[in-house]
Amino acid sequence: MTAFRVAMNFVHPSLDTATPNALEVALTDDVLVVHGGTPLEGRIRVRGAKNLVSKAMVAALLGDTPSRLFDVPRIRDVEVVRGLLGLHGVKVSDGDEEGELVFDPTNVESASTDQINVHAGSSRIPILFCGPLLHRLGHAFIPDLGGCHIGPRPIDFHLQALREFGATVEKTPEGLHLSAPNGLHGTKFSLPYPSVGATEQVLLTAVMAEGVTELRNAAVEPEIIDLICVLQKMGAIIKVHTDRVIEIQGVKKLHGYTHRPIPDRIEAASWAAAALATRGHVEVLGAQQADMMTFLNIFRSVGGEYEVTDLRPPRGGSAGQEGGIRFWHPGGELNAVALETDVHPGFMTDWQQPLVVALTQARGLSIVHETVYEQRLGYTEALNTMGANIQVYRDCLGGTPCRFGRRNFKHSAVIAGPSKLHAADLVIPDLRAGFSHLIAALAAEGTSRVYGVDLINRGYEDFEAKLADLGAHVERP
Ligand code: EPZ
Repeated sequence: MTAFRVAMNFVHPSLDTATPNALEVALTDDVLVVHGGTPLEGRIRVRGAKNLVSKAMVAALLGDTPSRLFDVPRIRDVEVVRGLLGLHGVKVSDGDEEGELVFDPTNVESASTDQINVHAGSSRIPILFCGPLLHRLGHAFIPDLGGCHIGPRPIDFHLQALREFGATVEKTPEGLHLSAPNGLHGTKFSLPYPSVGATEQVLLTAVMAEGVTELRNAAVEPEIIDLICVLQKMGAIIKVHTDRVIEIQGVKKLHGYTHRPIPDRIEAASWAAAALATRGHVEVLGAQQADMMTFLNIFRSVGGEYEVTDLRPPRGGSAGQEGGIRFWHPGGELNAVALETDVHPGFMTDWQQPLVVALTQARGLSIVHETVYEQRLGYTEALNTMGANIQVYRDCLGGTPCRFGRRNFKHSAVIAGPSKLHAADLVIPDLRAGFSHLIAALAAEGTSRVYGVDLINRGYEDFEAKLADLGAHVERP
């Protein structure tokens, strides 16, 4: 418990640690002991992207025949969506292949708010049930959202878009009640920012709305394009124009799909960063060059080396043996770099936290300008307690237009390196920052205790087994 209190104070100095509470007790059971200083060596495999799979599962609600999704990772977000689909009458079963799920939406039905509220606070995906439930049932109830605590994460764009389609939205203390008394109708809508979630909301609503929808300033992340592929397989008519314009011609009926999702490029980059930070060598089977080009450019600029071992055509062609990308630290010193996170095709905000750990080992001053989320650098405090030298600033340290510059958010970081990292007790604050804590503990000399590691299961399938495959010295106490 003493170690736990120290840990809580590292990351949450404002917390009152005088008395143990339920959270403390839960966290003390949820700890990974990491004996750091060993390079990660070996091969692991990533499956379907968390940020596509969960949305493709929601899309299955729109069909009038069963859908099949392959390569679904065993992660918490998938369980939440599976639970919500089940509550709405969608039969979800395991297919013949490991990781294959089958969704039968022939008997979609309403669920009670109490039943749905069991999932309150567990994920952000429930907000995407709005359009499909309005189409199938004429009403929807959405519980309080969860997801990572990485800033305010409003849903104003989602609600504005739904109202444009003709939905009425009532906010109550228990959640959101939506209905569409006059049906949903195509609309012209421009997003104030190319939000991934709001783009998905529009797609999942517009495909069966009456008439044409034109979405401007849409997000065009590979996961969005893959969701469009899923919807097109179901019978939707969607045109992706240049300059972030997506046009959707509503259809009356959609059927089920069969789909193998794009691999998880966030998980792939996380293991790549872990290889670099621990001076190791990791082959990530399933990783796809086409979706990771921006990451690969930065990885090479930092001094990491990689080889693309997947010789199949992009987007899952079947010829040849499965490969991926092999990432390694070539020895010697790493180079400092300047990078800015941005919407696709920029450097993903979710790649930032794992890579920063590797940047603590680079000689010179690295600069990171976070332009997607206003509060996604808080985790650097924990890295500093391990010996890193990271300063965060309110200023925009980069040229990418950013919404946070004059609004008092510490959203730029300067990382001075190389720093020798030493072991510490850490509490995981959110999914990606959590993985960065884990990498730091693996790279550091000595034994760290990482609390709250269960959170990592939200987005990284079997991460403890993968760590073992890579030769990491970790154990549950
Ligand atoms: C998705 O979140 C991902 N989550 C995030 O990954 C990812 O970081 C993010 O996209 C950006 O790529 C899922 O796909 C489940 P956004 P999303 O809407 O859709 C603002 C992970 O760890 N905004 O693109 O919620 C928002 O505050 C997670 O896998 C509004 O202001 O992200 C943010 O600053 C973390 N109003 C920006 O837009 C809105 O209504 C981008 O958010 C919606 C968004």
